Amino acid sequence: MLYYGLATSGVFLRPLAFTYNEGMIIESIIVGQLDTNCVIITDTKTRDACVIDPGDDPEKITAYIDANNLRPAYILFTHAHYDHVCAARELKEKYHAGIVMHEDEKTTYEDTKKLCMSWGYDEEDFPLPDLYVRDGDVIEVGNLCFSVIHTPGHTPGSICLFGNGVLVTGDTLFRGSAGRTDLPGGNREHLLRSLKKLMRLPGTTRVLCGHDEETIIKIEIATNPFMGLP
Ligand SMILES: [Fe+2]
Repeated sequence: MLYYGLATSGVFLRPLAFTYNEGMIIESIIVGQLDTNCVIITDTKTRDACVIDPGDDPEKITAYIDANNLRPAYILFTHAHYDHVCAARELKEKYHAGIVMHEDEKTTYEDTKKLCMSWGYDEEDFPLPDLYVRDGDVIEVGNLCFSVIHTPGHTPGSICLFGNGVLVTGDTLFRGSAGRTDLPGGNREHLLRSLKKLMRLPGTTRVLCGHDEETIIKIEIATNPFMGLP
């Protein structure tokens, strides 16, 4: 099942871990059957970290965290589809990190819980969020600050995280494509409006997508057929 937007480009380059600036490391770990990019942002000085979209394969995520002596403070959901949340319980229990999502994502998270329980998951596998965020809220990861951008469309409570030259988009924006809007809670008009918000960010912003390879805002403005649609 293709769970996210159709990519329009042919060759995919997987995102690689590298140091973006002196104070920050970003790692992208591919997890689960749908190859979700679980993004881990770390303040190199304090080792505080934010784990974004832990969709599955908790052992892969914890191996990276433990090998680098990180201290996850937050587990953030760009949205609550199952391929972005299913390893959250293990991380929360092991590191006592707080789960963060947008308040408009409650229904999506409930739907995910029901779906996954029909597959054999337990209710406890979907712990309640510790913090609900809104557009404009700031998430602090050590000394690094990131702004929450509410980008409804793929789901009502989809968010992107922006700061330090980086944008994490979940399933809102992909390289050459955008998130599908035909799932429950999806809304094409809202998605296009959200993409217009992202077009106002600096062109050099590095974009880490929820699936497939990363990109840059100015490349998407120039080539993505969804950017700028009325
Ligand atoms: Fe999704």
